[in-house]
Amino acid sequence: MNPIINFKSIGNEKSGYLSFFESQKDIPFEIKRIYYIYDVPVNTKRGMHAHRNLQQVLWCPCGEIEIILDDGYSKEAYLLDKPEKALLVGKGLWREMYWRKEGSVLCVAASDYYDEEDYIRDYEQFLNYIRER
Ligand code: TYD
Repeated sequence: MNPIINFKSIGNEKSGYLSFFESQKDIPFEIKRIYYIYDVPVNTKRGMHAHRNLQQVLWCPCGEIEIILDDGYSKEAYLLDKPEKALLVGKGLWREMYWRKEGSVLCVAASDYYDEEDYIRDYEQFLNYIRER
């Protein structure tokens, strides 16, 4: 499954663009939380965790951020380099995120409230979780 979602965009070069997505229409879950990560130095690596049940949509309205998704068997890299390009991150995926340009902002829409119990922050534990599932 291709996890890239291209948000709908309205506008033109002269006056600019507006992009949008709607819960359970353009993305496959109801949004319960939105957060964003900013003022991150270039080449910083963040993430390094998986979620047991949380689903997320990630997009970068400004700048360039590389996301690496790992399902425990293989890894795939995705570059969020356009404001209307988003990445659907399903449950049970290890992610690493690299800030590739200064001023890049990562926005996240999530299917649930913050719950530290849903995180797997140890890679060996993640691999065991995938194999036992
Ligand atoms: P984390 O999800 O680990 O972010 P990253 O992988 O980008 O480093 O979250 C960083 C910290 O923020 C961690 O202590 C948990 C806290 N946090 C909240 O309190 N609420 C939230 O909604 C999120 C996403 C994180």
